[in-house]
Amino acid sequence: MKAVVITSRTEPIQLIESAKPLVKEDECLVRIKYASLNRRDQWIREGKYPNIKWDTVLGSDGCGVVEEGSSKWLGKEVVINPNVNWGPNPDAQSDQYSILGMPKNGTLSECISIPADRLVEKPSHLSNETTAALPLAGLTAFRAVFTKGQIAKGQRVLVTGIGGGVAQFAFQFALATGAEVHVTSGDNKKIKKACKQGAIVGFNYNDEDWTRSASKAGGFDVIIDSAGGDLINSYLKLVKPAGKIVMYGSTAGSPQKLDVFRLFWAQAQIMGSTMGNDQEFENMVKFVSTHEIIPTIDKTFLFGDYLSAFDRFKSPDHFGKIVLKID
Ligand SMILES: NC(=O)c1ccc[n+]([C@@H]2O[C@H](COP(=O)([O-])OP(=O)(O)OC[C@H]3O[C@@H](n4cnc5c(N)ncnc54)[C@H](OP(=O)(O)O)[C@@H]3O)[C@@H](O)[C@H]2O)c1
Repeated sequence: MKAVVITSRTEPIQLIESAKPLVKEDECLVRIKYASLNRRDQWIREGKYPNIKWDTVLGSDGCGVVEEGSSKWLGKEVVINPNVNWGPNPDAQSDQYSILGMPKNGTLSECISIPADRLVEKPSHLSNETTAALPLAGLTAFRAVFTKGQIAKGQRVLVTGIGGGVAQFAFQFALATGAEVHVTSGDNKKIKKACKQGAIVGFNYNDEDWTRSASKAGGFDVIIDSAGGDLINSYLKLVKPAGKIVMYGSTAGSPQKLDVFRLFWAQAQIMGSTMGNDQEFENMVKFVSTHEIIPTIDKTFLFGDYLSAFDRFKSPDHFGKIVLKID
């Protein structure tokens, strides 16, 4: 079978021919139809991920059909939960936790053998292509929006960097809940697209006075962010008294300083959020089904064109998820 692995070569990701995985007890063999990329795949490619294990099959997101294993699943179309060993505490992952696709072999492969308890039925309103966009980004957004942000109908919400795969889900989940969702982006075209999708208004974070414009438009109950960096101090100006800033990424690094005065005077809460537990994964898939949410796909590439897919991810142009057609 063909699989994309990480190697020590000059171009570290390579499509190789490898043996079909053995199916252990309690596992199912899934023939992957579509997979999608996440920022971590590109960071692994760039060597910017901890404890990289050479020859691991990359990919955390996939959907396909069960070909071997428990009769309960045989022939079913499934989506894979990318959590490995979340553990017993719903509030935080265990020290044994990892994400599918490093160090465990992932979904950028024609087949994967995976514990049966990682499988959830594909939402019936979605194609295999759109389902593949769902797992990691949908889960991360679900926990950030609901468990942490507790976003509810009528609240004013800001989702930053709307071109991002996770941000797109956070945006759609908050909209489905009836929140008034505002966005930021570094690209005015992306802001226009988001407004067509239902955003109230968008702000370009490259404009010097975007914080002033956003502030004039009114404060936010919840800000969902993955950029980090010094923008945290802008968010502290924009959050309503006792509002929440939920951060699940640090694309722009760590802030050089933190306006602690604003933090305590605003009674603000800055919350970290990572992935989500297994129950949240099931709840996320149900939520997507109930609200008939369609993941935003930037572009789908053929498996053989995997390098172009990764390059597209690296570029600042993408809007939503990048998908690979595997089968
Ligand atoms: N903790 C977790 O469990 C978890 C899970 C998934 C991802 N993450 C992290 O979350 C981040 C986003 O992941 P992703 O998969 O959604 O990646 P992505 O699709 O590449 O999205 C990144 C987005 O960040 C936005 N961005 C860049 N600089 C920004 C800035 N200064 N201010 C606001 N937004 C900015 C851009 O939005 P525009 O194009 O609209 O400007 C870009 O599209 C990454 O850091 C990733 O590692 C964490």
